[in-house]
Amino acid sequence: MPEQMITCSFCRKKVKVHDQYDMPIYDPNTGFAICKNCIKEIHHFVEEHEASEASAAHTGFATELNDILSKNKPHIIKAYLDEYIINQDRAKKILSVAVYNHYKRMKYDYQNEGDSEIEKSNVIMLGPSGCGKTALLSHLSKLLDIPFAVTDASSLTEAGFVGADVEVAVRNLYYAAEKNIEKAEHGIIYLDEFDKIARKSGANNSITADPGHEGVQQALLKMLEGSVVEFTARGQRKHPEAPTIKVDTKNVLFIVGGAFVGIEKIIAKRVQKADANIGFGATVQSKDDENARFDEFIHQVRPEDLMEYGIIPEIIGRLPVICTLETLDEDALLRILTEPKNAPVKQYAKLLAMDNVELDFREDALRAVAKKAIERKTGARSLKGIIEDVMLDVMFDIPRSDEPRKVIITEACINDNARPEIVPMEASDS
Ligand SMILES: Nc1ncnc2c1ncn2[C@@H]1O[C@H](COP(=O)(O)OP(=O)(O)O)[C@@H](O)[C@H]1O
Ligand SMILES: [Mg+2]
Repeated sequence: MPEQMITCSFCRKKVKVHDQYDMPIYDPNTGFAICKNCIKEIHHFVEEHEASEASAAHTGFATELNDILSKNKPHIIKAYLDEYIINQDRAKKILSVAVYNHYKRMKYDYQNEGDSEIEKSNVIMLGPSGCGKTALLSHLSKLLDIPFAVTDASSLTEAGFVGADVEVAVRNLYYAAEKNIEKAEHGIIYLDEFDKIARKSGANNSITADPGHEGVQQALLKMLEGSVVEFTARGQRKHPEAPTIKVDTKNVLFIVGGAFVGIEKIIAKRVQKADANIGFGATVQSKDDENARFDEFIHQVRPEDLMEYGIIPEIIGRLPVICTLETLDEDALLRILTEPKNAPVKQYAKLLAMDNVELDFREDALRAVAKKAIERKTGARSLKGIIEDVMLDVMFDIPRSDEPRKVIITEACINDNARPEIVPMEASDS
């Protein structure tokens, strides 16, 4: 529209209008108009109203709890995780129990009017890259009847620094709870990549070395201890008049996880095995040695090792359950390719079946994929990429015809870039 002066029908202010953004609602016939400031005001009002309405509405959550408890017994949760995650039995058990106890604690609180006699058991998970930490928690989140939000701790910064404030973790939970504050206040927050906020310098270095991370930890500590966290709605900038939403984290269960690269050295030092035989660096011959050493020490981790790694003691004190995950070996990787409900090979088989094609991924080929993944040292993370490389041409060429066929993937396809064999169904039956 050409530049003109229009009077807002709400605030009666005259606004110089360049384009529709200045006056989002304007009817030239009647002259009815609403300026962008009024629209913002209305939006704020609605957000605020919705927030307070949600907090006022008691959802009958307490009455649902019995039902939730019977559906979420530890063995049921673990059985569900078993469908997707290979190995890591201990971690699955710990998480199943932690979640079940979280529900029980909630029930106890409701019955005893907020008397939190049963303490929260927040969990800290340690395990190498690609061993299934994030996958475990994301599957768990799909199963549960309470809001569950995953936030990447490495993206968090102390207030005033560029990046997201720690409140974001609670805000994510609030949205996972569909803006129901009561539900959010009983939810679970998973902080992924938690090791990234460790003081880089570790415990016994100068305190001035890493103020940013220390600040994030202090801010997180308040949340862990239980505090009322205040944040603005999504997409709204923080400014003094912005309506805020308040969520009390007193009953929120926290689970944090990270790779804690190098912590095995700290543990080894403590258990005094760092003698010449298994000394670091020169004597480590292969990745197998390295993995074995990681697994040997990681299970002995103690709070003081985490402190030495650069997590402040107050936070460690709030994470009483320590859960370690193991490095995945070749057999485990092989199973990950084929066994979970969403296993990569199963997914390709389903896709190909839609084109009347059967997938025959030979055992030696699977093993070759697992071996390659181990070389890349990123656990199960590189499996999909390796398979995708091989499958691309197949997926491209197969739909050229509608004939029923069979695709055979052999070890040579993985190791020597051999083209997968595609044979007619009849011939392959013999
Ligand atoms: N134990 C496991 N069982 C099944 N799949 C796994 C396992 N570990 C890792 N994966 C798969 O490997 C990929 C990377 O795992 P992820 O959970 O992100 O690792 P991290 O431990 O580094 O968080 C995911 O796609 C996940 O599905
Ligand atoms: Mg991860």
